[in-house]
Amino acid sequence: MVLLIPAAGMGTRLGLDVPKAFVPLAGSTLLERSVVAAWDSGVIDQIVVIVPDDQVDATGALLPSVTVVAGGAERSDSVRAGLAAADPAADLILVHDAARALTPPSLFGDVVAALRSGAPAVVPGLPVADTLKRVDDAGLVRATPDRSELRAVQTPQGFTAALLRRAHAGAGDATDDAGLVESLGVDVRVVPGDEMAFKITTPFDLTVAQRLCAAGEADI
Ligand code: C5P
Repeated sequence: MVLLIPAAGMGTRLGLDVPKAFVPLAGSTLLERSVVAAWDSGVIDQIVVIVPDDQVDATGALLPSVTVVAGGAERSDSVRAGLAAADPAADLILVHDAARALTPPSLFGDVVAALRSGAPAVVPGLPVADTLKRVDDAGLVRATPDRSELRAVQTPQGFTAALLRRAHAGAGDATDDAGLVESLGVDVRVVPGDEMAFKITTPFDLTVAQRLCAAGEADI
């Protein structure tokens, strides 16, 4: 079982001067926390971390337990770089955003269990609390999808290795890997997500994460 951790984004929405994965959270970077959670799950054999070009050496020194490669301009380019470094014999591959730094180890196990039970593609998802609207460029609401059908999808996302490699064989880009798999017409199964797997994107998210750590709420 290989885990790819794309961590090559700049994280501009966080407004700090370091790439997001290298932002410290209660003493450890977001990336270090994600790596520790993944190893703690006990279901991973190899971790490939994809970082900005100029961070490859420093990341290798910081995290000797992982394979480190340079990422690309778009998230999918970074995942493709990670795939090239993954053990070619692995039958299953997970992809996990470094920014979901408080993801509990158990969620990795849940995704792997669903893959082992025969699903070719698995994503964790949570019901959405807000009503979501489709809005056009003029700021006008064009549709209100039925909320009961919607899920906020997280990572780790899991795939058979052959399927993930096929999804990334083209030059396509998507905000998650399941999006590329869906466009191949393959069914993607949703398993229950975890609120602690939220993505740290904005300064507000980082404050929430800091307070959760201070309150002893984080597994990692
Ligand atoms: O931008 P977003 O938050 O969706 O990025 C999700 C993950 O993909 C982050 O962990 C980010 O570091 C990573 N990423 C990447 N290479 C890029 C862009 C994003 O590895 N070119």
